[in-house]
Amino acid sequence: MRLLVTGGAGYIGSVVAAMLVNGGHEVTVLDDLSTGHDDAIPPGARLVKGSVDDVGAVLGEQAYDTVMHFAAKSLVADSVEHPDRYWHGNVGGALALLDAMCAHDVPWLIFSATAATYGEPASVPIEESAPAAPTNPYGASKLAVDMAITGYARAYGLGAVSLRYFNVAGALFGSDGRGYGERHAVETHLIPIALQVAAGAKAALDIFGTDYPTPDGTCIRDYLHVTDLGDAHLRAMQIATPGEHRIINLGSGAGHSVREVADAVSRVTGRELPVHEMGRRPGDPSVMGASSVLAATELGWRPTSDLDTMIADAWTFAQRNPGS
Ligand code: UFG
Repeated sequence: MRLLVTGGAGYIGSVVAAMLVNGGHEVTVLDDLSTGHDDAIPPGARLVKGSVDDVGAVLGEQAYDTVMHFAAKSLVADSVEHPDRYWHGNVGGALALLDAMCAHDVPWLIFSATAATYGEPASVPIEESAPAAPTNPYGASKLAVDMAITGYARAYGLGAVSLRYFNVAGALFGSDGRGYGERHAVETHLIPIALQVAAGAKAALDIFGTDYPTPDGTCIRDYLHVTDLGDAHLRAMQIATPGEHRIINLGSGAGHSVREVADAVSRVTGRELPVHEMGRRPGDPSVMGASSVLAATELGWRPTSDLDTMIADAWTFAQRNPGS
């Protein structure tokens, strides 16, 4: 298949692009490199440096079978401070993409969606039918894109699958030894920050909130290895159906608390992990966990890696890419 991967120089996009190339697909990456890295493009893929707003020019060059759309802004706190960036960037970019796909008859779309569309869940595990009630502009912008895709699929025959990720971690190592992992200029996520502490680059891990209604008082999240996530994208390509938009959660169904993650990071790295107990981070739900029933039935997918494997792979990647 010939695919366009928007945002393919970023963390998840580059892992999926590498898995697609490995699978024998022809991959073009469209990325403005605002947060991605050109050396994250897998050998064998072509990089077009540019904005998703200009995707029409790329799709007009040659016939594509599928677009995987990762290009987006994804920082929750930033989205509260700068909602314009998320509405224009995430929704505007996706609309430009949908229009260009229709104009150039590209039949299949896989969209990088998020659990943030659910907001504070009424119950866990969260099923896809749960009400969407995002609590920040990031989640709202991704939900708006999901709604736009539904409309375009019905009206224009697009076959689309949205994958709503829960918490993603880990790295991919290619057979050539190249690594694809998380290298954010602004890092907000628990596992990479805990690894910075393990590496001695940061003095202590701040634990945001110890008074949640959970067994150890810290928030529980559903962590997923990025290669399991990539596998789900490859499977999603097989089920896209003209005129239908399917929405599928991607999580393991098992949760880990912040303290459990901190303990696992210490165990896996063999380093002490000093922690500071802090107040709650605004907007954090106490527990997030995915129902993976639909992913199992629709995609035949099940995650294979546990938390220690995610941490071990992220640790290997972080050690190979210090300071990035
Ligand atoms: N946490 C800490 N200390 C840190 C960083 C995080 O205690 O230094 C805690 C958070 O408060 C939270 C948990 O670790 O309880 C996980 O936080 P992350 O920032 O790693 O991940 P989130 O669950 O906040 O975010 C994830 C995705 C987002 C998505 C969100 C939806 O990464 O893209 O779920 O709920 F929007």
